[in-house]
Amino acid sequence: MTNTDIQVVSANVVWHMATVTRERREHQNSHQGAIIWFTGLSGAGKSTLAHAVEEALHQSGCRTMVLDGDNVRHGLCGDLGFTAADRVENIRRVGEVAKLFVEAGIIVLTAFISPFGSDREQVRNRMKKGDFIEIYCNAGIAVCETRDVKGLYKKARAGLIEDFTGITSPYEPPLTPEMIVNTESGELNACVDQVLDGLIKQGILL
Ligand code: ADX
Repeated sequence: MTNTDIQVVSANVVWHMATVTRERREHQNSHQGAIIWFTGLSGAGKSTLAHAVEEALHQSGCRTMVLDGDNVRHGLCGDLGFTAADRVENIRRVGEVAKLFVEAGIIVLTAFISPFGSDREQVRNRMKKGDFIEIYCNAGIAVCETRDVKGLYKKARAGLIEDFTGITSPYEPPLTPEMIVNTESGELNACVDQVLDGLIKQGILL
């Protein structure tokens, strides 16, 4: 955090500088903080992959946290539904929380559909260059619908769920993500290895 990052957004509210800085926390953790942002359709395997990558990072001594769409919607975003406006707010809040984790020197892995490119870009733009790694979990609607782990596609097809991503609500795949992982037919361990290799190439891991 530098003085140029300070934003006064509410009246009479001024940023308080911490003496324990992000750099000092990162030094203590022996790695940098970052957001690893998984995006893709419901059922594409975002949460599975995020947790498997977290497991590998944790075992190698990294400090990590997963923020997951279904879980966050039980608390922080429990008041939000799935209209476009609510999804925008969902991703804005998650982005701000993820940013706080990065300030804490933690590698935060987020698993949200995050269907709109502009919302993902807004989170990216709130971060320092290199702190936001976008990973597209590429699995097509046909495969996600066949998996239908939560039975939601069936309900959406029956008209029981409105604004369902891929059916009655759009999904905009990232145009230039840092990584594209084939979660349609790729084996989980291979996907994890691809992400870990990518994080080394991106300079997040040594
Ligand atoms: S996002 O679009 O705002 O990023 P988020 O990742 O938080 O979505 O939540 C998606 C999860 O909510 C899905 O995995 C699914 O389990 C559940 N869900 C419930 N209703 C919907 C819906 N209309 N569209 C997509 N997912 C839904």
